Order: sequence, then structure tokens, then C-alpha cells
Amino acid sequence: MHSIQRIGLLTSGGDAPGMNAAIRAVVLAAHHYQIEVIGFTHGYNGLINQEFFTIEASQVHGIINKGGTLLKSARCKNFYHEDGIKQAANTLIKNNIEALIVIGGDGSFSGLLKLQNHWNGQVIGIPGTIDNDIDETDHTIGFATAVNTAIDAIDKIRDTADAFERVFIVELMGRKSGHITFNVGVACAAEQVLSFENFSSENKNKKLVEIAQDIKQAQDNCHSSYIIVIAENLWEGGAHQLAIDLKQVTKTDCTACILGYIQRGGSPVAKDRILATKMGVSAIQAIIDGKTNVMIGEQNNEISYAPLDQVIKHKKQVNKSLITAQNNILAISAQTMNNKAKN
Ligand code: ADP
Ligand code: F6P
Ligand code: MG
Repeated sequence: MHSIQRIGLLTSGGDAPGMNAAIRAVVLAAHHYQIEVIGFTHGYNGLINQEFFTIEASQVHGIINKGGTLLKSARCKNFYHEDGIKQAANTLIKNNIEALIVIGGDGSFSGLLKLQNHWNGQVIGIPGTIDNDIDETDHTIGFATAVNTAIDAIDKIRDTADAFERVFIVELMGRKSGHITFNVGVACAAEQVLSFENFSSENKNKKLVEIAQDIKQAQDNCHSSYIIVIAENLWEGGAHQLAIDLKQVTKTDCTACILGYIQRGGSPVAKDRILATKMGVSAIQAIIDGKTNVMIGEQNNEISYAPLDQVIKHKKQVNKSLITAQNNILAISAQTMNNKAKN
């Protein structure tokens, strides 16, 4: 069997805490099997613009605890076009790259699928995105850290919200998916969780009245604070507009707070470091085993391999029991508590 000598590695799309831990694992595992790792910088731009360097094992020392990515990340407009993909394929061919590992999200994997029309090396995806919106893996690298960072921030917001008896609207990331919003909302005991999975803009006015009634009830019962977590891209005009809309109905000041990029940075939590390390090592083993066109996942604590085309077909849905618990039990229990306090 031919032994692999040279592979490429890049990080693409939104960076995620734990990408560095995955880079480290790939490089150390490759080093173990005497495979050279060429790191392409700035996502697919590095392939197109021929920006790359050999990643030595010594260069991944001390990066497991760092957010961001040693290889830099970027969106790459040219990769949406056939010409850009051909240029990228030529770089791989010219530099004798036998396999390419891409750490990124669903968009990055769509690009990786197309690359295979022009290049026949092995391709492997590692799911790295805070959004957790990728099928065929229980978690993506970066999600756990993003959730913890947001919880930490909202716990602090709760203190000041309590002190000022204020209504806060906290906007969370996730693009078009509510994994971060739902998990953070539940973990912070938010009074309202507003996300793609439980809200549609057609019901905007009805929802405003419903929230206004709930806030009023909470205020009547001397509940000192009221926190609404909302997914970005959900409410037209975002959290600031929701604050204005709610004030009109409630006549109460509502303060909007957009957590934004704070969720994408910082030192990865244990879960992300370990997940990234397992996936990075498995990616090298998959290449040695001759696998291609697969994403490395982790399901029920076991490493799994799913075809990339299958992975990008569906977005992973937010856990149904979490949505039901929030909508039907936790939110209702809070109302019941209010009613009991009143009587
Ligand atoms: P993520 O990988 O985190 O989902 P994006 O959706 O922005 O982030 O995708 C990252 C990059 O992957 C894009 O900037 C582009 O270079 C490439 N990409 C995304 N979708 C496609 C596609 N349909 N065809 C080719 N390349 C794509
Ligand atoms: O995909 C990760 C993510 O942070 C999303 O949650 C967010 O919608 C998007 O990236 C922001 O992208 P950009 O960095 O291009 O503003
Ligand atoms: Mg994506």
C-alpha cells in the first residue's frame, strides 16, 4: 500500500475555539506517521493564492488553549466560482498534496465537495463552528465554549438586571440556527427564549403582546429581572428593534445587549479541546485507511465517518426535548410560580 507523504490542512469560515487544538492533533498525529502537513492560510484563499507553509510539530506547542486559529480563517468569494476551485486544485496538484483536511462549517464542506470535481486527492472534513448546525455529529468544535462564554456573560447581566429590576434582551449568534440560543437560554433560566425553532415573524405582534403580558405579570409579582435571549437574524432589526417594539407595548425600558464575537473567541473549554483532539487524530487515521469524502463526527461518544454530501444535505436540528421543555414546562412553570406568589 502506498504510504501518504504530504497532506494539506486549512481552517475556513467562522473561527471556533478548539480549531487550534484540532490543528495540533492533526500535526502531531501526522508527525507520528511521518506525514508532512502543509498549512494553507486564510481558508480557501490560501489554496487559490498559494499561501502556505510546512507546519512543524514544534509550531503547535502551546496552542491547545488558544482561541482563533494558527492558520487564520476567512470566507473566500472566489471559491464559489469554478475558476477559483480550479486554481485551488492546481495548487494542490503542483505541490504534490495527497489529501486535504478542512476544519470548518457546512459552507466549507460544500466547497470541499466541489473541489473533488477537479482534484482526486483524499478529502476529509472536521466540523469546527460555534453554530453546532452540522448533521452527523453530536457537537461541533467550538460550540461548548461559545455556550459557556454566553452563559458566563448572561449570569453577569442577570446581576445588573436584578439590581436595576430591568428587562434585558440578549442577542446570541448562530446564523440561522438556534443551538446556541436554546442551550444558553435554558442554562441561564432566561424568562423567554426566542429562536427559529419556536418563533416565526408572521406571529410578531401576537408574540409582543404575549411577552408584554408575561413581563407585566413578573413585575406585579416583584420579580426583579426579566431576560429574553434571542437568536441573531430572527427579529427584523435585531435586539435593538425588539427593545423599541417591546417598550411601545409594555411602556417599560428594555435594554438590548448583543453578545456577538465574544462568543467566538477565548480559550476552549475541556469538551472542545478533547473533541478537537480526538477528531484531529482520527482525520489522520482516516487518511491512512484510504477514506475520502467523509466528515469526522462524534456520536454517542464514538468517532463516526459520514459522507460529506450527506452532511450538508440537512442542518442538525436543536434537540426536540430541550425545545419542548423550555416551551411547555420551564416557561409555564415560571408563570405558575408568578401566579402562586400572587395568591
Ligand atoms: P462555514 O464553513 O462556517 O459554514 P461559510 O458558509 O461562510 O462558513 O463557508 C466558508 C467558505 O466555504 C466560503 O467563504 C466559501 O469559500 C466556501 N463555500 C461555502 N459554500 C460554498 C459553495 N456552495 N460552493 C463553494 N464554496 C463554498
Ligand atoms: O458561523 C459562525 C458565525 O459566528 C455565526 O454564528 C455568525 O452568524 C457568523 O459566523 C458571522 O460571520 P462573520 O464573521 O462573517 O461576521
Ligand atoms: Mg455554516
